[in-house]
Amino acid sequence: MRATRCRNATIGGEPEPPTMAAVGRVLRTAVVALACAGAVARAEDKAASSASVQAKLSYCKDCHGASAQGYPGFFPIPRLAGQQIVYVENQLRAFIEHRRTNNVMFNVAHALTPGMVSALAANFKELNPAPVGGAPKQLVAQGRKIFEDGLPDANIAACAACHGPEATGSGDIPRLAGQLYPYVIKTLTNWGKERGQNPAKPDTSAIMSPVAHSLSKAQIEEVAAFVSYLR
Ligand code: HEC
Ligand code: HEC
Repeated sequence: MRATRCRNATIGGEPEPPTMAAVGRVLRTAVVALACAGAVARAEDKAASSASVQAKLSYCKDCHGASAQGYPGFFPIPRLAGQQIVYVENQLRAFIEHRRTNNVMFNVAHALTPGMVSALAANFKELNPAPVGGAPKQLVAQGRKIFEDGLPDANIAACAACHGPEATGSGDIPRLAGQLYPYVIKTLTNWGKERGQNPAKPDTSAIMSPVAHSLSKAQIEEVAAFVSYLR
């Protein structure tokens, strides 16, 4: 129905003298053609279906791991498996808007349509591989204490209060369960240099900022070790 209307609207222009009526018609045609181009783009985006989503997913997994479990290389690549959909969407926008600085992910993210972002985020949410592991086990007990009780002396709220008792997150608060030990350390250590970097666009990173700044290096390692083993 829509396709037919679009086709009819864009054909059938025999040469005419440039009367106002003709100009009006040409303009109308152009507007309809633009609207139709938009409709086609939206349809293609919606049909970011099967093949294109699968192709894009496998591209993401080249870096984020075959089950999106993350990859602890020289630049730790975070786990996306089980991650909150809203959080993933928000972070991809943050890379594009330079709120969050990372050259690799800027290049990846700015090529994604909104429909593709939603499809990818929904796919990652469904994955549930075992954590990569590898963190020093002797740090876990103290890390659990920080996660569950916070550090009242340093005025740090319990992580569980926001990230949930199982560290699964909700909405724009990320899941931490199973997140890579080196990635969590890097992220908490560099918070003020990587997040909330666009003063014109304040965002949810400000909520986490005081927590990240108040944790000592040792405390960061402990809590990172604890969450990295959570399933
Ligand atoms: C060339 C490697 C590479 C590819 C390909 C890649 N990523 Fe990433 N991604 C990274 C790195 C590295 C980071 C960590 C950035 C940082 O340290 O802030 C990251 C971070 C992210 C984050 C933030 C996660 C968090 O916990 O905050 C999201 C979301 C993300 N990537 C989604 C994707 C999606 C979706 C794709 C596929 C369209 C993709 N990535 C492809 C390397 C990659
Ligand atoms: C007041 C609520 C709140 C508390 C308490 C809190 N967080 Fe967060 N945290 C957030 C929000 C919101 C984000 C998402 C920030 C963003 O959008 O950049 C976040 C993000 C994070 C991230 C980034 C995850 C990723 O995938 O990049 C880590 C790591 C993290 N928090 C660890 C902790 C730890 C450890 C604690 C406890 C010591 C803690 N948080 C306490 C709200 C909170």
